[in-house]
Amino acid sequence: MTAITGKIGITKRPGELGVHSLSTFKMVVPDLTVAENFYSAFGLEVKEEGDTLGLYTAGNPHRWGIVGEGAKKRISVMSFAAFEEDFEPLKRRIEGQGVRLMDAPPGFSSNGIWFRDPNDFLVEIKVAEKTSPNAKVDFGAMDASGPANRPASWGRARKPEVRPLRFAHMLLFVANVQQSIDFYSRVLGLRLSDRTGDIIAFMHGIHGSDHHMVAFVTANGRTPGLHHLSWDMGSINGIGLGAMQMAERGFQKGWGLGRHVLGSNYFHYMQDPWGSWSEYSADIDYIAVDHDWEAKDQPPEDGIYVWGPDLPKDFLHNYEADQFETQG
Ligand SMILES: [Fe+2]
Repeated sequence: MTAITGKIGITKRPGELGVHSLSTFKMVVPDLTVAENFYSAFGLEVKEEGDTLGLYTAGNPHRWGIVGEGAKKRISVMSFAAFEEDFEPLKRRIEGQGVRLMDAPPGFSSNGIWFRDPNDFLVEIKVAEKTSPNAKVDFGAMDASGPANRPASWGRARKPEVRPLRFAHMLLFVANVQQSIDFYSRVLGLRLSDRTGDIIAFMHGIHGSDHHMVAFVTANGRTPGLHHLSWDMGSINGIGLGAMQMAERGFQKGWGLGRHVLGSNYFHYMQDPWGSWSEYSADIDYIAVDHDWEAKDQPPEDGIYVWGPDLPKDFLHNYEADQFETQG
């Protein structure tokens, strides 16, 4: 049932409408220099582009993230991508659902459609390349066991520089997990992968996608915001070297190494300068274009991890909400 859309290897589920990728995000922070330091240390390529920073992964021209300057840190835009032939049908379907379309915000030249989700996040759907994987991503190249009679590791001075392979997903604090599942299913055509009651839920794309391209955790009555951005490292060594590289650059606070249950990925989270997190991730579960994943409601003890260090006390603290609720 896998259909090829003219570009070899790109997967598309025939006859169903939905976005294929979370293409780009935009966030705003009070000081771009702080962002440049953090994301450079994390291993991203950070480029000055006018009055914003572009976030790239090495060797890939795709811009995953835009960081702009603003009084308070906040996630401001999620830009999803659809196949060209699906764009008009998607637009008609969304208009038919009564979603109010908006003009592109200032600074965006866009042929996409814009609207707000129930959390007031600004969402775009545009025609763009499929950046979500078309198959399970290779894993473990850096983890291969070495041959006998030769050291397999690196000296500290010669350890490889860390380079995330791609942006993978984001987790958002939301007003109501069920409401967000409903909206992102109905409007964007995503599907539920797994959930833990109304606490946390993970959603994937229908055209071949990681176990989650976006996920929602309850904001518990507080202002919605960003919990974390996740970047695929391709190996456990990539994750470990990433955490070490961050520590050497002064970013010590994190959580890992561990492994999730829902999505199965290995992780090490680094806390960013604004209290949210950037995740080094590897080997996340993959849902192929021709597979109908059975969404399950999982027990709370499986909602976060199977093994790893104790959770930092503030791992689920919504610092983004603090700024809006305590400082006006
Ligand atoms: Fe994650």
